[in-house]
Amino acid sequence: MTTPVLTIDGPSGSGKGTIARQVSIALGWHLLDSGALYRLVGLASAKKGVSTEIPGELAELARHMNVRFGSDEQGNERIWLDGEEVSAQIRTEKAGERASIVASIPAVREALLQFQRDCRKAPGLVADGRDMGTQVFADAELKVFLTASAEERAKRRHKQLNDKGIDVSLAALSRDIEDRDRRDSQRTVAPLTPAEDARLIDSSDLSIDDVTELVLGWAREIWEM
Ligand code: DC
Repeated sequence: MTTPVLTIDGPSGSGKGTIARQVSIALGWHLLDSGALYRLVGLASAKKGVSTEIPGELAELARHMNVRFGSDEQGNERIWLDGEEVSAQIRTEKAGERASIVASIPAVREALLQFQRDCRKAPGLVADGRDMGTQVFADAELKVFLTASAEERAKRRHKQLNDKGIDVSLAALSRDIEDRDRRDSQRTVAPLTPAEDARLIDSSDLSIDDVTELVLGWAREIWEM
């Protein structure tokens, strides 16, 4: 029997990162945050001075990236790149921008494919991203596509940044989100689109817990847990 995979795809701000984490904890499964990989390639290329205009070098860097996912002494999730703890650095708006650019390069996506597939380990994997259900784990038994209106996603991001003491305008955030959506869904390679057999959830008017319960209900039904 193959190891079960549950994919959760959708645009940024749909809440999929939080949902994927909660679902993986509830099931006791591994978690793959594939967006972090693109963010890491973006960061590594910036640090090493590799231009985003040279696909071959970027792919090479992606293939040999020295990454470690783990947690610190307090149990917080942490990510190391070449031995340096970069968890906060990869979460900035600028890092997101660069991630979106490197993610549009086919050679980079190809270079990260095997790493992602190797994350499928017993007892199971929850994979969070844009193309988990369409490309990386096209054979997944349960695929979820999570959306929320651009307005709602901008509001959530605004609140998140405000909570961190970062002051940005809601209008500017809305514009950025719409730009990034356009680039992620119009690119020719692995565009952001639901798999044909994905179950769609619009989270605009749902709480994180509502969505988590919905997904867990499906998982229990499919895997008879
Ligand atoms: O989910 P995120 O914001 O951390 O993703 C960062 C960027 O990477 C985003 O622009 C989309 C891209 N991405 C992708 O193309 N494919 C994935 N599976 C995950 C993320």
